[in-house]
Amino acid sequence: MVKIGIYPGSFDPVTNGHMDIIERSSKLVDKLIVSVLINPKKNAGLFSVDERMDMLRESTSHLSNIEIDSFSGLLVDYAKYKEASIIVRGLRAVMDLDHEMQMAQINKNLSADVETVFLVTRAKYSFLSSSAVKELALFHGDFDDLVPQYVRDKLKSKFQ
Ligand code: PNS
Repeated sequence: MVKIGIYPGSFDPVTNGHMDIIERSSKLVDKLIVSVLINPKKNAGLFSVDERMDMLRESTSHLSNIEIDSFSGLLVDYAKYKEASIIVRGLRAVMDLDHEMQMAQINKNLSADVETVFLVTRAKYSFLSSSAVKELALFHGDFDDLVPQYVRDKLKSKFQ
């Protein structure tokens, strides 16, 4: 049976911390679907969903078993639709744990068939977030080592 995993998130934009999780989790499944949440609740964000998907596509082009997609609604419904049995999430530090455990437990309640698998982010990325990168870009701080090169260029042109 083909093992399909979903790595869901906002990815506004994808960072090297996300890339670490994508590269490592792609080895654990036959296919990894990296999917951008279309969130009607959250304000628009910096990049559109299409731009986020484009950056993900470019940044993961060296990996052969990745699909880039977007979704709305409940993650477990989307997982079922995609025939995925694993949800991948990254943990940076204990600050992530509360929220991540809550989501994993809600999802388990909604669907017994899907397992949430947590990967612990490499220590060098434990401080990293999309919001921090956006702030650095806005105030012209150095963020070159924190995002893939394609994303770096997109951020620079946004804040030029
Ligand atoms: O990158 P993020 O913003 O931390 O990702 C959050 C995400 C997309 C995993 C989460 O918001 C989500 O799964 N949303 C879909 C709605 C859903 O299924 N909610 C029930 C679980 S709380």
